[in-house]
Amino acid sequence: MLIKNAHVIDPANKTDDILDILIEDGRISGLGRSLRYTGDEIIDAAGLVAAPGLVDVHTHFRDPGQTDKETLHTGALAAAAGGYTSVVCMANTLPAVDTVNTLSDILDRAAKEKIHIYQTSAVTMGREGREPVAMRELAAAGAAGFTDDGTPIMDEKLVRRAMKEAAALGKVISFHEEDPAYVWQAGVNSGRVSESMGLSGADRKAEYSMIERDLQLALETGATVDIQHVSAAESVDIIRSYKKKDKNGLIHAEATPHHFSLTEDILAEKGSLAKVNPPLRTEADRQAIIEGIKDGTLDLIATDHAPHTAEEKAGEFVKAPSGMIGLETAFALGMTNLVKTGHISIKRLIELMSVNPARLYGLNAGSLSVGAPADIVIFNPDTSWKFTEEDIHSRSKNSPFIGMTLQGKVRYTISAGRYAFP
Ligand code: DOR
Repeated sequence: MLIKNAHVIDPANKTDDILDILIEDGRISGLGRSLRYTGDEIIDAAGLVAAPGLVDVHTHFRDPGQTDKETLHTGALAAAAGGYTSVVCMANTLPAVDTVNTLSDILDRAAKEKIHIYQTSAVTMGREGREPVAMRELAAAGAAGFTDDGTPIMDEKLVRRAMKEAAALGKVISFHEEDPAYVWQAGVNSGRVSESMGLSGADRKAEYSMIERDLQLALETGATVDIQHVSAAESVDIIRSYKKKDKNGLIHAEATPHHFSLTEDILAEKGSLAKVNPPLRTEADRQAIIEGIKDGTLDLIATDHAPHTAEEKAGEFVKAPSGMIGLETAFALGMTNLVKTGHISIKRLIELMSVNPARLYGLNAGSLSVGAPADIVIFNPDTSWKFTEEDIHSRSKNSPFIGMTLQGKVRYTISAGRYAFP
């Protein structure tokens, strides 16, 4: 395959130039001007940007157990449509990924998909926060990292022990930070909006109090940690101050597209579609997250793609599950709310959505070096488009962004040298 005349943005190699990309046997075999190619698979990328395929370190594919919401296959299609060539799936499937059997079943089936699907293991059996999983065995069987995502781990002793083991295994351990003591109603921020709904909500302290505990433990144990879906301004401040003390690059933190794009005010219009854990908060929090992205405090953009059925989301707010899909809108939300607003460059967006997540998980991804896997996203940075249900490849359609106009559109996703999208 030859990609011709693309504006190649490859931060890992400091490339920002109009070039051709030659692909042979699933790998990039040449980068340059007027490359010789005799085949007939040519993408004319004039006016388009080609960058390393996106990498999501926080995805829920619901397979096994809730395949009415998403399967490995529909999840892979959604990811590819969003420009992703690698995703790291969370362990809150049914059963949870807490045994080698469950992990191996997922990895075997995932290998048949066009994009690269990695799978984390839970930290505790059943994600119940009590009994640790056999981390060493699960790592040997291919667990990408460890997380009880969806649920906080309250037992500090257990967290310390799991961090020590993750550090010894050289694996990332990721944390969902919401202390239930301050979550009176999940999915809505405690404050003006929750009060107007007659609900107490989820307080910001639920998040930042746990982040402080886990960052202290990370520095003490030497574990590489990922603080997931940061939502509150205080959390950004705490992460910033701990990163200053972190001489070994142990601390990483995610911003989601929904937390940098929306506030709690959207709940009045979108109801349960905007119910998510941790919740959307205030404009001051949104701005703090953008500041965190700009100064590197938040070094990853991760989707928390969380499919749920229309029936579940149509029910009463207090009963509806939290979460929204995100793979198909993440890149355009980054372009719309971070790049087009002048906060960051396209190059920086690619670092946050590809280079940094690939490095954190040690994946052979995130660069367009000659010899690297041909995992490439090609997009038009200037297309303005309305996101509709027809754009959704996920099995679930629970997005508060339906009907919104976004900037920047993925045109092709190439994974291991093959078309993954369209
Ligand atoms: O809102 C959420 N939904 N937050 C999470 O962390 C988990 C996710 C899910 O699995 O539905």
